[in-house]
Amino acid sequence: TAGTPQSDMAALLTEIPDHPSSGVVFRDLAGLYAEPGMLARLASHVAERLDGQFDRILAVESRGFVLGAALAALTGRPLSLARKAGKLPGPVYEADYALEYGRDRLEVQKSALCPGDRVLCVDDVLATGGTLHAAARLVTVSGARVAGLVALVALRGLGGQQRLSGHSVLALCEVP
Ligand code: PRP
Ligand code: ADE
Repeated sequence: TAGTPQSDMAALLTEIPDHPSSGVVFRDLAGLYAEPGMLARLASHVAERLDGQFDRILAVESRGFVLGAALAALTGRPLSLARKAGKLPGPVYEADYALEYGRDRLEVQKSALCPGDRVLCVDDVLATGGTLHAAARLVTVSGARVAGLVALVALRGLGGQQRLSGHSVLALCEVP
């Protein structure tokens, strides 16, 4: 099995105080992605835990694309991209949200989500949960179902997990 990656992951994270704005402790995952074999291991771990219980992956721009693509390649599930406002052509669903350091809007092409599909929403970091909550709203408004929400790293103390409590949330590593 892939094992529980929590301790290996935590050692590869870097903390940057006051990025991107004063008072925010930014968790940089660059060291995690640079570790040989780590991304494949993390994707395997997620795939094992979810055990095929999803039909499609919705990955959040931009850092959510990394795990989302790895997971799609591993599982053979279709990959849909939730992008920031104004990037996608054609009719889109949209969801405004607040995150730890600002506000934004996510969009997904209406053609990228099918009613009834069980959709797994994927991101790198779960902080306030605003971003994954917006991704889940995109899924719901399309008539598809949220199979679960996945983040590589969850920040405790920002209320993200509580905010998303209506959904099944998988965080591979928790940090203060
Ligand atoms: C970061 C991160 C998550 C989100 C988490 O994205 O990649 O998507 O913040 O924060 P939240 O739980 O408070 O919503 P960011 O908007 O900085 O964009 P990026 O991925 O394009 O860097
Ligand atoms: N996204 C939102 N808050 C973050 C943080 N503190 N570190 C990294 N990514 C984030």
